[in-house]
Amino acid sequence: MSDKNKVFIFDTTMRDGEQSPGASMSLEEKIQIAKIFDELGIDIIEAGFPIASPGDFEAVTAISKILKNSIPCGLSRASKKDIDACHEALKAAPRFRIHTFISTSPLHMKHKLNKTPEQVLDAIKESVTYARNLTDDVEWSCEDGTRTDIDYMCKTVELAIKCGAKTINIPDTVGYTVPLEFTKIISTLKNKVPNIDKAILSVHCHNDLGLAVANSLAGVSAGARQVECTINGIGERAGNAALEEIVMSIKTRNDLMPYKTGIKTELLSKASKVVSNATFPVQFNKAVVGKNAFAHEAGIHQDGMLKNRNTYEIMTPESVGVKKTSLVMGKHSGRHAFKEKLNDLGYADITDDIIQTSFGKFKILADKKKHVYDDDIAALVDDSMVHDKYVINLKSLKVYAGTGEPQRAEMTLDVYGEVKQTSETGDGPVDAIFKCIKVLYPHDVKLQLYQVHAVTEGTDAQATVSVRIEENGKTTVGQAADTDTLVASANAYLSALNKMIIKRDKTAPTEHETLKVKGI
Ligand code: KIV
Ligand code: ZN
Repeated sequence: MSDKNKVFIFDTTMRDGEQSPGASMSLEEKIQIAKIFDELGIDIIEAGFPIASPGDFEAVTAISKILKNSIPCGLSRASKKDIDACHEALKAAPRFRIHTFISTSPLHMKHKLNKTPEQVLDAIKESVTYARNLTDDVEWSCEDGTRTDIDYMCKTVELAIKCGAKTINIPDTVGYTVPLEFTKIISTLKNKVPNIDKAILSVHCHNDLGLAVANSLAGVSAGARQVECTINGIGERAGNAALEEIVMSIKTRNDLMPYKTGIKTELLSKASKVVSNATFPVQFNKAVVGKNAFAHEAGIHQDGMLKNRNTYEIMTPESVGVKKTSLVMGKHSGRHAFKEKLNDLGYADITDDIIQTSFGKFKILADKKKHVYDDDIAALVDDSMVHDKYVINLKSLKVYAGTGEPQRAEMTLDVYGEVKQTSETGDGPVDAIFKCIKVLYPHDVKLQLYQVHAVTEGTDAQATVSVRIEENGKTTVGQAADTDTLVASANAYLSALNKMIIKRDKTAPTEHETLKVKGI
């Protein structure tokens, strides 16, 4: 297979992905994600929008310094100030990309930019030329591309290439296109833009109609050689094309799509987990990385699988790094075996402190629970990894529930080093627990989501609880696991609250928020 069949994978989990409500990531989380993305074989990592906030600037700068293989990239509008911020954040990297964009659809030009098509052409010329003087790796995007007049789009693309853009990205910003139409757009650009051979065509699809992956693959079949996507498909509104789905589609149906990517697919499951830990849980039936993606429930399917895996399996779980759940850990397992198990589960570079805390939690769990599965261990390690920066921690909880009496919770919290206690009643035990937290640490946030999942099977399974809260337009998500659903609920709420406190301390109102409000 020749290099003309290589499809470059451009990941925007930390930029477009972070624009999902509830998906904001801390610097530490972004660094952890960047390291695994680098190992995964992603070609270009869009690490943020440097002008948007000090946090984004800091993340792009930090990530630019640690990548060994992937090319770091930052986003900028068509303005010198934005491009300078990008350059400043990226310049420590030996190679970097500046990605600049402007809207080209009649709707956006008139109502969002208040510019004529001629003025937009001038802005393209000025911004791409300016960026090109700072790096030879410039990407240009026509925002709302799929609702742009095709003849005008050809003009903009020709101009951007003339000014030095090496990658031309066609976004389906509002997830409006369908595969047939997108194929036509990409083919027209290929056929009509005279200098198109001097650039790589890229596609960037949103999932509002659930077509992001299908549209991206249609774009590739029509000649695009870069796909912009995110792990777990997170992103603005209904999300972006999911990286794992694009890569596994190309790999599984290579007979129809004879392309190659540089992705080490065995690391996809680990990457998905790291991203979902920092953002929100993946739905059970999510393609490729969902908990049920390789589960066979129906007897007829199980029978077929036992006779020949190909009957109901189009790709193996091993090919995306899913290991068979095993039962080998129990209360007699020692620290060494535990460490080995963590290695097997993909937790290679965690600190001794976290191993120690997780091992302590594992021993307690093994005493309570007959079978400790891999997923149980993963859940408690994930829990330990986020705890060390928290200023409010649960010390004890007692809940009185059942029929008759109103449900009551007694709680002791460590709040900034001070031990505080209260007892509150509520409309159900969870309500009583959340009330205790509000009394011990008065705050005013809106609960947007409360979700419980069983980590493994059985009535003694650990429950993972996810909580999303909102304060002044900022959202955070907390997750926690425990065999006691109510303890997990308290810890998940506290986790979201601690993240909110960290966020509050870190960020003043930023241009980022303004940009988000503007829908960028
Ligand atoms: O969806 C979109 O148009 C974008 C651009 C900034 C590339 O994310
Ligand atoms: Zn986008």
